[in-house]
Amino acid sequence: MSAAKSRWADDDPEADALIAQRKREKEEKRRAKAEKQRQQEEASKATAEAQTRNGDSGPPKKRRRLSNDPDAPDAAEEAKSEEQKKVSSLLRFPVAEWGPCRHVDNFERLNHIEEGSYGWVSRAKDINTGEVVALKRLKLESSPDGFPVTGLREIQTLMEARHPNVVYLREVVMGTKMDDVFLVMDFFEHDLKTLLDEMREPFLPSEIKTLLLQVVGGLEFLHSQWIMHRDLKTSNLLMNNRGEIKLADFGMARYYGDPPPNLTQLVVTLWYRSPELLLGATKYGTEIDMWSIGCIFGELLTKEPLLQGKNEVDQVSKIFALTGPPNSQIWPGFRSLPNAKSLRLPSSSAPSGGGLPLLPRSRFPYLTNAGLNLLSGLLALNPVSRPTAQECLAHPYFKEDPRPKPKEMFPTFPSKAGMERRRPRHTPVAPKRGQEAPQLDFAGVFGGAQGGDSGEAGAGFALRLG
Ligand SMILES: Nc1ncnc2c1ncn2[C@@H]1O[C@H](COP(=O)(O)OP(=O)(O)OP(=O)(O)O)[C@@H](O)[C@H]1O
Ligand SMILES: [Mg+2]
Repeated sequence: MSAAKSRWADDDPEADALIAQRKREKEEKRRAKAEKQRQQEEASKATAEAQTRNGDSGPPKKRRRLSNDPDAPDAAEEAKSEEQKKVSSLLRFPVAEWGPCRHVDNFERLNHIEEGSYGWVSRAKDINTGEVVALKRLKLESSPDGFPVTGLREIQTLMEARHPNVVYLREVVMGTKMDDVFLVMDFFEHDLKTLLDEMREPFLPSEIKTLLLQVVGGLEFLHSQWIMHRDLKTSNLLMNNRGEIKLADFGMARYYGDPPPNLTQLVVTLWYRSPELLLGATKYGTEIDMWSIGCIFGELLTKEPLLQGKNEVDQVSKIFALTGPPNSQIWPGFRSLPNAKSLRLPSSSAPSGGGLPLLPRSRFPYLTNAGLNLLSGLLALNPVSRPTAQECLAHPYFKEDPRPKPKEMFPTFPSKAGMERRRPRHTPVAPKRGQEAPQLDFAGVFGGAQGGDSGEAGAGFALRLG
């Protein structure tokens, strides 16, 4: 039986021609595609080169939305970013979003505002757009490899902290040297400290509520992003003439984790520093920020910083004079903190009846019971007794009359930063980064010679100092 002849047999000239034709067409298509791709690559390379030459980082890329504003991201976006968060490690550098930095020469310095511990701040104008901004030149300790690592934390946390109540970091610009790093931020007319110093009367209760709600709102966002601020104080809160207030100065801010890592003790400016930090805790959490909020709340009420210690020992004396001394009932375990061993407590500090002790009403005569209750909670000696930022926002104090004043109804104040240098202030400076906490002897807190300058009537005991 002979085999049937194939349709595709070699000797079919018509089929051969057809196959050859198809091959040619395919080859032509492939070549055209490769050429198109090459042309596209060349065009995008040319654009990138032109942008680098102009110092332009190209059209703004869509920034990852980090706001937890209820009407901000949609559910799908949020789920995606949750997923991203899970895979990312503790130190998150948004590298992909960073382009080459512009040079500081793009800004014209208008006037100097203030020199702080971590930077020189001036008011400046963006030469290209005419916009007025704040320019903070970071003070960066040089490291052996010449790379300014410490300042990166401030940049990194500020970059991530996009919230209506956190100062907006527009960009980072460079000078000529590696350690000439400048933060370009939105400019604000006031900081709360300067404003309180200049005001004749303290803010009204309705205004205090509006300010506190914003500050704690910003802080709640930071804590939800695993960022501790660690230097909350009135000079680090910026205000404009539209009743808006923003958290600023992230020089001490850092990410933390659960369980908390070992952290440096020497954080937070003395007057705003919590008792657990003063007593030498190395494991601490967001409660230290809540203590500072308590100090800021007290300062808003009286226009004066609440606890103005001269040194660490005096600070602890002043705290205990306000809150009453600690005992093992209100603060179990405080004895095991390194500096608590030298504390000699007065006999009146024996455990008293349960519940959170209230601060003396005589210190805050115009505050309602709900307000005193909130302030006492924020200034609880035991960190676990302090409300979280979220709990603070839900406190009845903000719901009772007088209600928070609408921001648009806020008074305007003449700006100090616009025209002149802000007045030097007699307040302690932020701790130096990386410095060891001093060894402290608290034996003098109750009646010793190391404390402050005067005796003061405390809650339930008498302090004899110096
Ligand atoms: N964006 C801004 N707009 C206007 N003024 C600003 C701005 N940022 C900072 N300032 C002013 O500069 C001061 C110092 O800024 P900042 O707190 O960021 O620097 P610092 O060196 O870390 O300060 P310190 O360590 O003394 O707290 C602020 O108290 C405020 O008066
Ligand atoms: Mg500051």
